[in-house]
Amino acid sequence: MKISKRVLSGIQPTASMVHLGNYLGAMRHFLELSKESESLFCVVDLHALTTVKDSEALKNNCRSLTAAYLSIGLDPNAVTLFQQSHIPEVCELAWYLGCQLSSSTLEKAHAYKDAKASGRTVNAGTMYYPLLMAADILLYKATAIPVGADQKQHIEVARDIAQAFNFHFGDVFPLPEPLIPEEGAQVVGLDGRKMSKSYDNYIGLFEEPKKITKKIKSILTDSKTGEEKKDPESCAVFKLYRLFASAAETENLAERYREGGLGYGHAKLELAELVLAQIEPIQASWHDWMSRPDDMADLLKEGAAKARQIAGETLAETREKLGVGL
Ligand code: AMP
Ligand code: TRP
Repeated sequence: MKISKRVLSGIQPTASMVHLGNYLGAMRHFLELSKESESLFCVVDLHALTTVKDSEALKNNCRSLTAAYLSIGLDPNAVTLFQQSHIPEVCELAWYLGCQLSSSTLEKAHAYKDAKASGRTVNAGTMYYPLLMAADILLYKATAIPVGADQKQHIEVARDIAQAFNFHFGDVFPLPEPLIPEEGAQVVGLDGRKMSKSYDNYIGLFEEPKKITKKIKSILTDSKTGEEKKDPESCAVFKLYRLFASAAETENLAERYREGGLGYGHAKLELAELVLAQIEPIQASWHDWMSRPDDMADLLKEGAAKARQIAGETLAETREKLGVGL
């Protein structure tokens, strides 16, 4: 079980493109981590089945997300980039892990409780979601899991399962740790709540620059006039700005908020300029990858071969400990 740091994370292909919350809260850190540690990143299409009921949309979402991973600069030769459903071993492991977990843990999970509270019918996949996520992590014996703050509880479930398994059957799984960035743990959306597909308050990373500017102009602020002094910390425009700006630029804007004399309209234009300049090369690369679906399919195939090697070894070890499949 001796593993030095192994990084793994996944994103659900539930939308036609990722948003700035995904980028700033998770993906930007994937890139930094991939430069210093062995890393695996996946398109978790099996998880997306809990909500996506349209096969064409799912395929398009998977392509868009794969292109997003590549366009932020992940080097497919250095990292293992793959699609969850290409590794069927993950479902088998999820079953074994489910047998080590009390069902009440799944019933208490935030995401499941929120889905139930919404009044909609909740499918069983939504309840098993943390179990499949634990299997994603433990199948590759990953130890460092970069995610936004909303995923912390899921990683705790994975740790609990690993501990229970190791206790009963002997050490197989290292305990995974969440890596939650201080900056960007919870990126705010246009209305000041957490940026999310489900709140429709997001800025898509690959949206047209004009649309992005329009969305930024629509960010909700209080009604202070240009002359009035403002509190940067309570303003969504500032909160987004600081995620893109240098420390000096951030301090400069904060100072102008506090002094008064800066209107929100002006701050929004500065934010739009900064965001667009930074994402322009990512957008260009994404469009380029999207025009080469066959190249992306080849890369995913290579990634799956690498991932499957590790998955096969873990599963063989797990089966032996459990006494099945012998
Ligand atoms: P999802 O779109 O739910 O699959 O999320 C993919 C990744 O983006 C996860 O690591 C989330 O924690 C992260 N994420 C999603 N929305 C936000 C947000 N508003 N702020 C920070 N991180 C986020
Ligand atoms: N649940 C994660 C999310 O919604 C996605 C995910 C699935 C994941 N499997 C994972 C994240 C494994 C990290 C590691 O964002």
